Amino acid sequence: MAAAGGAVGLGNIWRFPTETAENGGAAFLFVYVICCFLIGLPVMVAELSLGRATQRNAVGAFNALSKNPIYQAVGFWGVICGSMILSFYVVIAGWSFSNVFVEIFDYVGMTGPATTLVDTSNGVVNILFAALFMVATIFIVRGGVSEGIERATKTMMPLLLVMLLVLIGLTLPMEGAADGVKAYLQPDFSQIDRELILYALGQSFFSLSLGLGALITYGSYLSKSDNVVQSAAIVTLSDVSIAFIAGLLIIPAIYVAQAQGIQVFDDAGSLIAGPALIFNILPVVFDNIGGIFGLGLAVTFFLLLSVAALTSTISLLEVSVSYVIDEFNVARNTATWLMGGVIGTIAIWVSFDLGMIDILDTVFSAYGLPIGGLLISLFVGWVWKTPAAMEELKHGFPSFENSFFQKVWPLFIRFICPILIFLILLDLVTG
Ligand code: PHE
Repeated sequence: MAAAGGAVGLGNIWRFPTETAENGGAAFLFVYVICCFLIGLPVMVAELSLGRATQRNAVGAFNALSKNPIYQAVGFWGVICGSMILSFYVVIAGWSFSNVFVEIFDYVGMTGPATTLVDTSNGVVNILFAALFMVATIFIVRGGVSEGIERATKTMMPLLLVMLLVLIGLTLPMEGAADGVKAYLQPDFSQIDRELILYALGQSFFSLSLGLGALITYGSYLSKSDNVVQSAAIVTLSDVSIAFIAGLLIIPAIYVAQAQGIQVFDDAGSLIAGPALIFNILPVVFDNIGGIFGLGLAVTFFLLLSVAALTSTISLLEVSVSYVIDEFNVARNTATWLMGGVIGTIAIWVSFDLGMIDILDTVFSAYGLPIGGLLISLFVGWVWKTPAAMEELKHGFPSFENSFFQKVWPLFIRFICPILIFLILLDLVTG
């Protein structure tokens, strides 16, 4: 449950719909789902089993299984990616939370403060809310990944789902929404090109929290009676479903906003996306609903989104904190403030220069995470070796012998996943 909570976050509700809208709608969705199940799921099983077998964190796991220090680089790469992703993730998480106040101020007629907060180019406001998020994350990580997160996740995830469904029901009848549904669900396969595949792969790793060892840590909290394969399948399925449902709200909402005169497409017909897209178009939907009901929905939605983001910032920070604890033998408290401080400092820069979001996101999510996934697959497949990994997977999975999974997983983790990732990164699929 904690892993599912860590997986569901801005990746589903902010990043997935934006990437889909930017990269050809339904065709992107199609490739994305294939990436999640064909590449993401086997890698997730690898990460979780690494964690449970070694009972260590993202870096310690590699040390525990091989004396060769070169493999620590895999863990270290995860630390870099996790830290850089977190540095812009907190800024966007800050926008989710500030929107709660924008909606309230708007409703009570305090247009001044509302206008200040809604302006995502205001660096000072960005820092304020990002810092709030960072400090909240630090306080939770300081205490270790706790039951509290699991409890929050258990109530939050179903609520978020219900919220999304209610909002979809209210948005689809609005003018323009039908065009969005068409763009989202009617694939034009001629749109599949190098960029689309690369970004779909990156999106699958980002949304499933893969490639940086975040799930190694969660794996170490699983007990021997838990079925790792089944857990991975549940996390993947729930994460993909929530992303799909979020798309069904956001993509039509883009077209609703357009129908109301908000410029979302440029003259050439391409989306003027930018990282703040969903925060520009969702308020239009809430406005259309209107009244105290519209306000209630807006406030609940942005609060839930903030909590979903918080469970993700926790797992992102935990990667680097456990690295520092492990490697430099510092106390958890010190390590948390140290890494939180370093990442928070980068976030200050991002807050003032929003162009950094796109750059960091492309380098460390679209490329960085699949590279991490490639290295993890190679490590599990060829260094730890699949027979040893499968010994681990048998715990909690009584019918493992002769199962379909037993037959195909080694093939995926040794050959199919690394080769596919490699080909996609080097642009050898579409030529
Ligand atoms: N999966 C999270 C999301 O969708 C982001 C994340 C990535 C969290 C990697 C942890 C590790 O928002």
